Amino acid sequence: METSNGKISWKYGLAWSQELETGNETIDSQHKQLFKLISDIVEACMNGKDADVPKKALDFLASYTVKHFADEEALQLQYGFPDYERHKKIHDDFKVTAAALVEEYNSELSLEKLNSKIHSVVIHWLTRHIKGEDAKIAAHIRKQAKTQGV
Ligand SMILES: [Fe+2]
Ligand SMILES: [Fe+2]
Repeated sequence: METSNGKISWKYGLAWSQELETGNETIDSQHKQLFKLISDIVEACMNGKDADVPKKALDFLASYTVKHFADEEALQLQYGFPDYERHKKIHDDFKVTAAALVEEYNSELSLEKLNSKIHSVVIHWLTRHIKGEDAKIAAHIRKQAKTQGV
C-alpha cells in the first residue's frame, strides 16, 4: 500500500520504490499498476490452490503489458523520442517472452515454477527496463517540455 514517501509494498515482498520513478505521471502510474498485477500473480501462486486464479492474473498482466507498451510508444512518438525504434524492438521482444510464459503456464508450468519465472524473468526485466530505458523517455519528455513549452 502507498505511504506518504511514495513507497508501495504488497504482500510477499514485492515493492515499488522511488528509484523506479521516471518522473512521468502516465508512465509511473502504469508501472505501479504492472507491479500490482505482478504482485497479484505472486500472491495467487503462494496461495496456490486454484490454478485458474494465477492464470487469469497472468493473462491480465500480459494484456496490460501490451497496452502499457503501446501507450509508452505513443508518448515517444508524440515527443519525438530519438530512440523510438530500438525501444519498440525491446518491447516487441518482451511481448514474445511474456506470450511464451503464458503459453508455458497453460501447458506445463506449476504454480511454484510460475512464481519463480515471474521473479527471474518478469520482475528482473521490468526493473532493469524501467531504470535503464523508460527513464530516458521521461527525461526526454521533460527536456522537450522545457524547451518547447509542450
Ligand atoms: Fe518501455
Ligand atoms: Fe514502461
